[in-house]
Amino acid sequence: MNGWRPGDRRPDRASMLRVDQAGEYGATRIYAGQLAVLRRNSPASKLIARMNGQEQRHLARFNALMATRRVRPTALQPVWNVAGFALGAATALMSERAAMACTDAVETEIDRHYSRQLDELGDDDPEFAADIREFRAEELEHRDSARQAGAAQALGYPVLTAAIRAACRMAIGLSKRI
Ligand SMILES: [Fe+2]
Ligand SMILES: [Fe+2]
Repeated sequence: MNGWRPGDRRPDRASMLRVDQAGEYGATRIYAGQLAVLRRNSPASKLIARMNGQEQRHLARFNALMATRRVRPTALQPVWNVAGFALGAATALMSERAAMACTDAVETEIDRHYSRQLDELGDDDPEFAADIREFRAEELEHRDSARQAGAAQALGYPVLTAAIRAACRMAIGLSKRI
């Protein structure tokens, strides 16, 4: 494409789609874990259910894109299934605010991740980039909603969010390759 020369690094879009689908899948598992623990119809549950609906949409879109582009999902899907649910359930068991701190931490990393991907893609793949741009805006809304709902007042917020962010970075790194 434009200006590309042999030897230039081109974005590996299959790997990018693989990690994005894994992330959206993980998000639905985290929220499933939280919803299993939190009292139904509490304000926190309602907020999480709403965010989860958007994650389902993100996931469905990346699933469709993977199918048309014949990209395989990460082999770690079964791990993210269990680990995502466990993270969601564990944070919700701590408190509603800890559940919000989890979203705050996860979406902070996802925002960074999607921003980097958009930089890397440039004008290479407008269809994929449009999805990433749209979803990134929604992830930022999730982060802000979680902060408004008291994420930072969670007990041990700095340690909790640092640990979750580190786990996200690890999951992102692994899902790109495996
Ligand atoms: Fe999402
Ligand atoms: Fe999100």
